Amino acid sequence: MLRETTVAIIGSGLAGISLALRLADQGVGCLILTKSKLASGSSVWAQGGIAAVLDPQDSFDSHIQDTLEAGAGLCHEAAVRTVVEGAPDAIRWLSHAGVHFDGEDASSQGLHLAREGGHSHRRVAHVADTTGRAVVNTLDRQILASPNISVLENHTAIDLIVGPVGRDSQRQGVAGLYALDGETGAVTTIHAQAVVLATGGASKAYLYTSNPDSSTGDGVAMAWRAGCSVANLEFVQFHPTCLYHPHAGNFLISEAVRGEGGKLLLPDGTPFMTSHDGRAELAPRDIVARAIDYEMKKGGHDCVYLDISHLGARQIKQHFPGIYERCLSFSIDITKEPVPVVPAAHYTCGGITTDLNGRTDLEGLYALGENAHTGLHGANRLASNSLLECIVFSERATPAILKYLESSSPIGPRPPDWDESQVSDPDELVVVAHNWDELRRFMWDYVGIVRTSRRLQRAANRLHLLHEEIRDFYSHFRVNRDLLELRNLVAVSELIVRCAAERRESRGLHFTQDFPSPVPGQRHDTVLRPAPKH
Ligand code: FAD
Ligand code: SIN
Repeated sequence: MLRETTVAIIGSGLAGISLALRLADQGVGCLILTKSKLASGSSVWAQGGIAAVLDPQDSFDSHIQDTLEAGAGLCHEAAVRTVVEGAPDAIRWLSHAGVHFDGEDASSQGLHLAREGGHSHRRVAHVADTTGRAVVNTLDRQILASPNISVLENHTAIDLIVGPVGRDSQRQGVAGLYALDGETGAVTTIHAQAVVLATGGASKAYLYTSNPDSSTGDGVAMAWRAGCSVANLEFVQFHPTCLYHPHAGNFLISEAVRGEGGKLLLPDGTPFMTSHDGRAELAPRDIVARAIDYEMKKGGHDCVYLDISHLGARQIKQHFPGIYERCLSFSIDITKEPVPVVPAAHYTCGGITTDLNGRTDLEGLYALGENAHTGLHGANRLASNSLLECIVFSERATPAILKYLESSSPIGPRPPDWDESQVSDPDELVVVAHNWDELRRFMWDYVGIVRTSRRLQRAANRLHLLHEEIRDFYSHFRVNRDLLELRNLVAVSELIVRCAAERRESRGLHFTQDFPSPVPGQRHDTVLRPAPKH
């Protein structure tokens, strides 16, 4: 089957939907693909909120400084300034779209601003502790009402199609993509003038993660296979506090809980953060996650505890209703007792390299949101800067895409259809299930919060075997979503390990016992470029 569109957007998280709305406003036809529902991705689960300088006592310089400090010397200052200065407009854009942020303080333009680790001011606009859901639901209503936007749910993009662009057969760029229809199992060819990757992060590479199932690094893997460079994938952010309960799945306990004075405790009730960092619970999350990891390993504990009960039942229920309800469903009453927590993979700081307008190395291909490396986060992302990045970059990418559409018109020749003539139905799906489990476990054990060169080498050896097995499976059998995601996770994990092995120092989120300090000569991005195809 063939579908044609002007702009194909892969992913319906905040990056994808905010771009679609902006392009649709300019009269551009967009097709959004998502491998699950329209309201999906990490965006829906975001709790803490969106960082922006809205308080007259705060300043752009302070937000910039906090972002640079968290980024441990690797942030690109131009990206930081662009995003920080775009933040107040991003909040206004969302308010105008109908998002009702919590408001109580007249001196901060009517919004209640929360505090999170690494921020030297209260500057996080939020909707209680369910900011992501409020934002996504509001924008999705507009997506569904727009005559210029179509949505294909339950469609997993498999690979990008590279081919001639516009009238000029010599000009190579992205010409569309192949996507698997999850209902019928058929592969659709999507012929597009421009393609945008907005597929979110890759935290499902790890056994424990705060992310939903969709975070399998598909965009990074597709871009890499299409010939784009990637950067800084060694910087995997582990959120310090995910709920530890056998039936809880992936559930985050927002950093805003520590922002409101939540204390981290050992199982016997002893606080421990001040012995790790003077900023205690409000240190940036790499420091807090490592401190918890250290205490858990030292004491042989399964988890540590986070206590917010001092805030009182009324305030807890008002500011953290989602967390309160969710914990109560597991018989944990956070107004009276501490919550058991552990660190978990949370955010992929590196990704597909882009410029400040979301352009990648390939003509007509753009990357936005968590799958992009814009230079904003450096070696560690400051809390609540990523929803912001999605919005600011979708605004910046819009004129760049419009210009590209003009220069590459009319759409190039129809790409070839997906070829299934050499494959049959898979006979041993157990291979895929087994490899999923194995991958996530060794990535957690060998490429986690604390690394060593030897552990990285072990992971590289196993990844090599998995890579060969999956390649064999992929070339002989019809694809399904599990196989596609595993193929992508293996590809991205290989890139994470390669980046981590190249960084022979500890910086930001990358901590290796073999090189425990930062090395001034290594203060640069880890950029990987695919080998040229012959
Ligand atoms: P996502 O929202 O992850 O969306 C990815 C989309 O791509 C999904 O629709 C998915 O279905 C689709 N997709 C993926 N692969 C394919 C494919 N092959 N084919 C088709 N579709 C595909 N950040 C903040 O700034 N503030 C917060 O308070 C905050 N809280 C968070 C809380 C949690 C629990 C989590 C997990 C993250 C949080 N973050 C927060 C981070 C932030 O939510 C994400 O970085 C951001 O939402 C990423 O948006 P995105 O649009 O890039 O990707
Ligand atoms: C949180 O609420 O702790 C998540 C914030 C973020 O990841 O930016």
